[in-house]
Formats: sequence, structure tokens, C-alpha cells
Amino acid sequence: MTGADLLLDHKLVICVGSGGVGKTSVAAALGLQAALAGRKVLVLTIDPARRLANSLGLPRFGNEAVRIEVPDCPGELWAMMLDPAHTIRDLIGRVSPDAATAERILGNRIFLAIADSIAGSQDYMATEKLYDVVSSGTWDLVVLDTPPVKNALDFLDAPGRLARFTDQQIMKWFLAPYEKERGFGRLLLGTSALVFKLLGYIFGHAFLDELSEFFQAFRGLYDGFRQRSEAVIAMFRHRGTAFVVVCAPTSASVETARFFLGELRGRGMPCAGVIANLRHRVGPFEPDPEALLGALARGLGQDLAPHTAETLLARLGAADRRLRELAALEERRLTQVQQAMGGGQRFWSAPRLEGEVHDLPTLRRLGEHLRSA
Ligand SMILES: Nc1ncnc2c1ncn2[C@@H]1O[C@H](COP(=O)(O)OP(=O)(O)OP(=O)(O)O)[C@@H](O)[C@H]1O
Ligand SMILES: [Mg+2]
Repeated sequence: MTGADLLLDHKLVICVGSGGVGKTSVAAALGLQAALAGRKVLVLTIDPARRLANSLGLPRFGNEAVRIEVPDCPGELWAMMLDPAHTIRDLIGRVSPDAATAERILGNRIFLAIADSIAGSQDYMATEKLYDVVSSGTWDLVVLDTPPVKNALDFLDAPGRLARFTDQQIMKWFLAPYEKERGFGRLLLGTSALVFKLLGYIFGHAFLDELSEFFQAFRGLYDGFRQRSEAVIAMFRHRGTAFVVVCAPTSASVETARFFLGELRGRGMPCAGVIANLRHRVGPFEPDPEALLGALARGLGQDLAPHTAETLLARLGAADRRLRELAALEERRLTQVQQAMGGGQRFWSAPRLEGEVHDLPTLRRLGEHLRSA
């Protein structure tokens, strides 16, 4: 198996990396290559650049898989844009012990107020949606494009987030006035009862009743959240899953890539390797502008001011030398990523293409680079 074919042989590929390095482009390019190889593929994407979404015919949001028409393609390419608001509602429905609890939560004003901020945590919502699509068994391959993270750990820690919230002291504290237990609870009862009295005074008792109902109903979801987060982590660690770290040849991105490699290893997550995207490429031999273009430049520059052709050739030579220095610097930076890779992990490269990656032909070119890398 050559190049990225090794990646496409999995059931789930998760592209992680710092912001703007090409995670969305690489995820879509890999998905397209797998579809061209005859597989039924879903690319689950998070807020792709508008031009890419438009040219793929993707609506802005919807949690609906949309088939992308690819000419002469033996497989199928589908894409889905994460809709965090839908995802959180589906999730509550799924983990609630019964329909009545789900309704109590979904209709609760406190839930409606915090739902937006839970849904705003795109990385968490992505892992939830991912679990649904992978376990549906509809797809030969799912490629996940992860959201830009401020902290590289956000995404890997995401699965347990609501389980931790429901297990937290804050929950206990809010529930304390409604608990029957004694002992330590009595201490909480004293403090929180006072605060509750104050809150009741400010917001009214109807608000407090709603708050307590929310916390009581939400606490019942703890087991559901925990089981789900364990299932998501098991899916991350599964043999059919491959994480791939996408990076650009900048020092910040290289640092994040090294960090991700370490974290994935520490958590026992299967990482196939690193895709170094957006590299400046140069040929093996330094060209001689005078030998290549001298005669042509002098011929064309006859009517121009004296020395125009010489100046132009000198500038071309300088630009080429700068590009070579940049490529060499990038190579040195990427060596640091390679040093952080473990045995069995692969390193793929893709060049910085002209223009942006916003249509099928460019995605295809990007994918072909990865397959031959
Ligand atoms: N190999 C490439 N050659 C040229 N342009 C590229 C390449 N890869 C990505 N781009 C461009 O770089 C920009 C960022 O790419 P992309 O949106 O895929 O990155 P991202 O990692 O998903 O970003 P974010 O973290 O914001 O989600 C886009 O404009 C895209 O078209
Ligand atoms: Mg993106």
C-alpha cells in the first residue's frame, strides 16, 4: 500500500491539528480519494470555508448527510456539516432514561439557556455526532475534520465533558437544599440554603423551582453520559480508527503537532502519522536565471529602460534563493515533528497549491499528492 492509501483503509480517520493548517481540506481530499477508490465515505466537517461548502453544494448546517456529485466515481462521497444545536437535543433524547425525562429537560428554560453554550463547544458536539454516524454502520469510511482548538487537549478530553459536569460538586451543591442526607450535606445545606434564599429573593421562586428541576432531571443523565463517553473513547481506540495529525511547516503548528503526538500516545489512541500540508516545494537544482531566461529577457526588454532585463533576472534569482531558504527552513522544522513520531507512524507531505482548496478538482489534486507522498 502506498501513501495515504494506508489511511483510507480504516473505518474512521480523525484529522487533528492547530487552526488553519488544512484539516478541513485534507479531510475532504482524503474522503474524495476513498470514494474514487470505490468506498462509501462520509466527511463530517465543522464549518468549512464558505467557498468549499458552496462548491460541494453543502448547506450551512443541518446534520444531514449530503451526497456530493463526483464525476466517474465508483464509490460515494457524502458530507455532513455539524449542527451543534441539533446534536445536543438528540443527545439528551438518547441518554435520558425515558421520554418524560427528556421532555422535562428539553422544555426547561435553564436548559434552553445553557444549551447554546454546550452546543458552542464544537469539539464536544463533534465527538457525539461522530459516535452516531460511525455506529450507524452506513459508511465504509468516516473522515472527521475537527474544529480549530485553542487547547490541543480540548478535543481529546471532549467525550467525558457532560459526564464530568453531572458528576461535579457544583451539581451536588445546587441539589443540596433538596437532598435528604445528613452529615456533610448539612454543611452544604446551611450555605446553599442561604444563597438559595437570596436567589429566590432576586429571581423569584418560579425560577428556583425551574433551576432545581433542571438539576434533578439532568443528574439522572449521568449514567447515560458516562456510558456514551466510554463508548466514544473505545471508538477512538478501536483498531479501525486512525488519528492523523495535520500540520503546516510553521513553528507554532510544529509545536502543536509534537504535542498532539505525545498526547495521543499517552492516551493509547491509534495515530497513523503526520500530514505536513502547505509546504513550499523547490526543485533539486538551483536554476541559473541568466542561462534560462537571459536571451529571452534581453529580447523582450529592448524597448525598455537600460538594465531592465538584468534587474529582472537578478530579482528572479533572489526570489528563488529566498524560496529555497524557506523550503530548507520548513524541512528543518518538520524534522522536529518526525523525531517526535513513534515506530510504525508515517509522514506524508502536500505542497502549498496555487490558490485555495475550494473545489473538487483542487481537492483531487491535494488527495493525489497525499496518495503519492
Ligand atoms: N495544500 C494547500 N494548498 C493551498 N491552500 C491550502 C492547502 N491546504 C489548505 N489550504 C487553504 O488554507 C486555508 C485553511 O485551510 P482549511 O480550512 O482546510 O484549514 P483548517 O485547519 O480546517 O482551518 P480551521 O482550523 O480554521 O478549521 C483555506 O483557505 C484552504 O483553501
Ligand atoms: Mg476547518
